[in-house]
Amino acid sequence: MNDSIKSVVLTEEQIQERCKALGKQITEDYKGKTPICVGILKGSIMFMADLIKNIETHVEIDFMDVSSYHGGTESTGEVKILKDLSTSVDNRDVIIIEDILETGTTLNSIVDLLKYRNCNSIEIVTLLDKPMKRKVDIEAKYVGEKIPDEFVVGYGLDFAEKYRNLPYIGTLKPEIYQ
Ligand code: PRP
Ligand code: MN
Ligand code: MG
Repeated sequence: MNDSIKSVVLTEEQIQERCKALGKQITEDYKGKTPICVGILKGSIMFMADLIKNIETHVEIDFMDVSSYHGGTESTGEVKILKDLSTSVDNRDVIIIEDILETGTTLNSIVDLLKYRNCNSIEIVTLLDKPMKRKVDIEAKYVGEKIPDEFVVGYGLDFAEKYRNLPYIGTLKPEIYQ
């Protein structure tokens, strides 16, 4: 195990189980459709890659990168688009793929934007959900694991851009972030 990791929250095997179960549900719900899977950079990359292998209907993929605008230290709830989609979502079924849903401000803004662009439907799949951190009223239809409010890294999730390459998800030792 990496020296900076205090405890493992989801092992590689547990992550693959979640991907299988979520992929199965999505396959059933989107039978006969071709949804666009939109990965939110950068955290979602590993989960997106593993999840879509388990979706057995046609899918297209695309990516968005956003950053939160900050007024002082508080998030304003608005996001700045750093990288936009390269496909039109007009009249399409969209599945947003996230690694983690916390305050909900990132996803809330993206959902508003894609609705404004006239998508036919929009749902969220997130590997991790921290319901205790929520500030805006948004929920994911597909959730891999609900977790308490502890800082987690790995499998796409970073601390200061590091640890994204760990194949599992774990908590950091306090001395790393203090
Ligand atoms: C993290 C995470 C989610 C978002 C969740 O991304 O990957 O996208 O924050 O937080 P929220 O629900 O409070 O909005 P981050 O902005 O750190 O970018 P990254 O994915 O590139 O690490
Ligand atoms: Mn992210
Ligand atoms: Mg981050």
